[in-house]
Amino acid sequence: MPRKPIIAIDGPAGAGKSTVTRAFAKHLGLIYLDTGAMYRALTWWIHYKGIDSNDEDLIKPLLNNLDLRLFLEDDYKQQVWINGHTVTEVIRSPQITADVSLVATHRSVRDALTLQQKKVGRQGGLVAEGRDIGTAVFPYADLKIFLTATSRERAQRRANDLRAQGFDDCDLYELEKQIIERDNIDYSRAIAPLRQSSDAIVIITDKLSCQQVVQVLVNVFQDQFL
Ligand code: CDP
Ligand code: CDP
Repeated sequence: MPRKPIIAIDGPAGAGKSTVTRAFAKHLGLIYLDTGAMYRALTWWIHYKGIDSNDEDLIKPLLNNLDLRLFLEDDYKQQVWINGHTVTEVIRSPQITADVSLVATHRSVRDALTLQQKKVGRQGGLVAEGRDIGTAVFPYADLKIFLTATSRERAQRRANDLRAQGFDDCDLYELEKQIIERDNIDYSRAIAPLRQSSDAIVIITDKLSCQQVVQVLVNVFQDQFL
C-alpha cells in the first residue's frame, strides 16, 4: 500500500462505531477520527450563540470563523474544542443529541465539516467513523465497514450507558423511538445521507461484544492487507 490506509466506518446511532473504532484504531496505531463529535460541537456552538438550528442563513456566518479542533489523548479519547471552549463532555448531552441531526442536514454545514475531515485524511493513516465517511468523505477509502444492529439492541445499549451514568428510570421504548427518529433523519436527508456503500463490508453486531466486533475488524483488515 503506497500510503497509510484510510478506513471508513459508518452506521446508525448505537451501532458501536465510537467504541469499536477507537479500539481498532489503537490496535493498528492509526489516527482515530469521530466525525459525529464535529457535528455535535457545531450544534453546541449554535445553541451557545442562541441561533435556531433550523435557520441555515444564520448558521452560515458561524462557519466562516469556526475554530474546531480535535485532540487525540494517549488513551485514544478524542478531546473536542470549539472556538476556545472545551466541549468534549457537554456535546453528549440530550439537548445536543436531540438537535444534531437537524444541524447535519444543512448543505453549508456538511460542506464545511467534510472539507475539514478530508484535510485530516490527506496523509492517510486513519480510521474515521460517522454516517457518510465511505460514501462522501473518503469514497476512495482502502476499507469500508458498515456497522449496524437492530434498533432494539441499540436502544438497550443506550439504556445501559444511561444506567451506568446513574439514570435508573430510562424508558427503553422511548429510547428506541428516539433512535428510530434520528435514523430517519440521517437516512432521508438530501445531502450525504447515511447509506451502506456498495463496497462496504456489513457487520451486524447484535449479540456481539465490543471486543468481538474489534476482533472481526482485525481479521478483515489482516485478510485484506497482510
Ligand atoms: O454517537 P451517535 O451515533 O449517537 O452519533 P454521532 O456519531 O455522535 O453523530 C451525531 C449525529 O451527527 C448523527 O446522528 C448525524 O446526524 C450526524 N453526523 C453526520 O451527519 N455525519 C457524520 N459523518 C457524523 C455524524
Ligand atoms: O458510536 P455509536 O453511536 O455507533 O455507538 P457507541 O457509542 O460506540 O456504542 C454505544 C454503547 O454500546 C457503548 O456503551 C458501547 O460500549 C456499547 N456496545 C456494545 O455493548 N456492544 C457492541 N458490540 C457495540 C457497542
